[in-house]
Amino acid sequence: MRPDETYQLLRNLTSPIVAITCERAGKGNGMISDSAVRASIVPTIPRVSVYIHKFNFSHDLIFDTGRFVMHLLRTDQFELVHRLGFTSGRERDKLGAVPHHPGTLGVPVLDECYAHFECRVANVMDTGSSTCFLGDVVEVGHGASSGATGTVMTAAYFRENMPPQWRAEYEALLAAAQRFAAERSRHIKPVIWRDLPAPK
Ligand SMILES: Cc1cc2nc3c(=O)[nH]c(=O)nc-3n(C[C@H](O)[C@H](O)[C@H](O)COP(=O)(O)O)c2cc1C
Repeated sequence: MRPDETYQLLRNLTSPIVAITCERAGKGNGMISDSAVRASIVPTIPRVSVYIHKFNFSHDLIFDTGRFVMHLLRTDQFELVHRLGFTSGRERDKLGAVPHHPGTLGVPVLDECYAHFECRVANVMDTGSSTCFLGDVVEVGHGASSGATGTVMTAAYFRENMPPQWRAEYEALLAAAQRFAAERSRHIKPVIWRDLPAPK
């Protein structure tokens, strides 16, 4: 097994680009992920899942509050990916210049996107370096001006078409995240999500 080849093959399993927003004690934040998938085939029990690294500010906000909003983005939303996915909310207010409004869970909903899913955390799984959040979708909507029109931005589309001046920074951030994950991925802890009913 050649690690680099395996990693390239695994890239086929990345998801569309999503913006994940969260909120704790009045502070909103947002980040970018390409690890979001549908996690239920039951139309009346819609669910999503997403892996979020523990070094991200959003991780702590979502873990502490059990709430997040997942937004599918359009192929024309590169600037938003750069704004939310290249710097941390620990360093600056990333949502200040991004039009948004509070959703039904009190978490910021971005005005512009392809569609959004407001989620309450139903369960979690520890991977050592990240947490996989399983979310019950409690509300759905679409972008204010466009509705669910345009084309959803996939991870492959982002990687192939990102402005060239961002590429070196993207590669450096990815390499740093890989180093963080390499040190921690074998230390998986059992985690019982606090809102689960006690086993009978
Ligand atoms: C294309 C792309 C995909 C990303 N995918 C993920 C992901 O799946 N999980 C994750 O934890 N971070 C992912 N990131 C990195 C976070 O978006 C980034 O670390 C962000 O700055 C976190 O912000 P925060 O510290 O304010 O939460 C991705 C970034 C980009 C640009």
